[in-house]
Amino acid sequence: MTKSLESKSILLIVGGGIAAYKSLDLVRRLRERGARVRVVMTAAAKEFVTPLAFASLANEKVYDDLFSATDEQEMGHIQLSREADLIVAAPATAHLLARAAQGLCDDLATTLLLATDKRALFAPAMNLRMWVAPATQRNVATLNRDGALFVGPNDGDMACGEYGPGRMSEPLEIVAAIEAALQGDTRLPLPASMGAPGPLTGRHVIVTSGPTHEAIDPVRYIANRSSGKQGHAIAAAAAAAGARVTLVSGPVNLPDPAGCDVIHVDSARDMFAAVGRALPADVFIGAAAVADWRVEAAAQKIKKEQGAVAPTFALVENPDILASVARAQERPRLVVGFAAETQQVIAHARDKLTRKGCDLIVANDVSEGSGVFGGDANEAHLVSRASVESWPRMSKEAVASRLVARLAELLASSEAVE
Ligand code: C5P
Repeated sequence: MTKSLESKSILLIVGGGIAAYKSLDLVRRLRERGARVRVVMTAAAKEFVTPLAFASLANEKVYDDLFSATDEQEMGHIQLSREADLIVAAPATAHLLARAAQGLCDDLATTLLLATDKRALFAPAMNLRMWVAPATQRNVATLNRDGALFVGPNDGDMACGEYGPGRMSEPLEIVAAIEAALQGDTRLPLPASMGAPGPLTGRHVIVTSGPTHEAIDPVRYIANRSSGKQGHAIAAAAAAAGARVTLVSGPVNLPDPAGCDVIHVDSARDMFAAVGRALPADVFIGAAAVADWRVEAAAQKIKKEQGAVAPTFALVENPDILASVARAQERPRLVVGFAAETQQVIAHARDKLTRKGCDLIVANDVSEGSGVFGGDANEAHLVSRASVESWPRMSKEAVASRLVARLAELLASSEAVE
């Protein structure tokens, strides 16, 4: 079995039709191909198949409640849709199509369809009269115009005893349609009216920020002192400059900056995967203090036994996110790293620039007494292959806007050269 959907994340919306049982097989087929599948069920869907059946096959909890405080805490509904590469509605009932076409959002499924920035692929399933009804055909045409994709329905015997169009496509046909959709760009373009035009309008910027937490056991972790203030300020400045910003944030005590798609992660490996999913981009800014090493986490809390020797941990190297992005096939045009150094700041930054293959390094002195960690000010040096610009001490917000302005200039001038 080829892992044709490796590292892809599918949000599967299950509507209330008898074809829902076929979507169980669809989940299995998608997972066989390496996809992560998150399932959202409508209330009617649960009359046909239990959430437990989907949860067992997806190996994830099933979401169904728009107003669940726990879900909002763990994973807000906007994030549910933002983290998916594609939304698939199967079976898409006449009612689900009608609600989606009208932009109604009276449950989690339709709210996700309205809030998404990705294309949705609908696999309709309904009685043939309902499918050919002018109202349904109008809804399908509206959804098509809005950027939705369709697979099926097929002609065939229907559960209601009639014959004709309305049978949901078979799971493997839906898989093929998903694979085809993922070959293209599944993001929905932002309407031109959204967002003030700025120097980064039309650009996608990915920023990593904060520390990472590397679990030792279910209660302990390895971390570092990064507050995420600089990375979050950069994400906010890029959004204010008109960019579409994906902020991949480690655990921080900061609110999500306005206008950014924020993906919350814990470990370096989660951050690596989230960045991979967010590509392609025009600019990547690695401001996170990613833990260089992790330990193989114990499944249970490590107990302190009377008289026993203290445990020792073998460290395993984490993936280097910055270096991987700089060498990725879909390399962003500008790749920017950070260097927190305690001595020979510029020399180490130069060395890092070459080693990691990035275009710019923002270097700062984090030696004791600099107040950079957790503080509100920063003294940065912008190091490129050809030059060093040393900026005076200024707020992290000011460093962020200055950096964003420089990046916009570099993007514009590199395009002018081509
Ligand atoms: O090698 P060092 O950790 O000092 O490099 C710092 C730069 O590399 C930062 O931009 C940081 O975000 C990035 N980095 C990374 N993945 C790692 C380690 C560092 O993206 N595993």
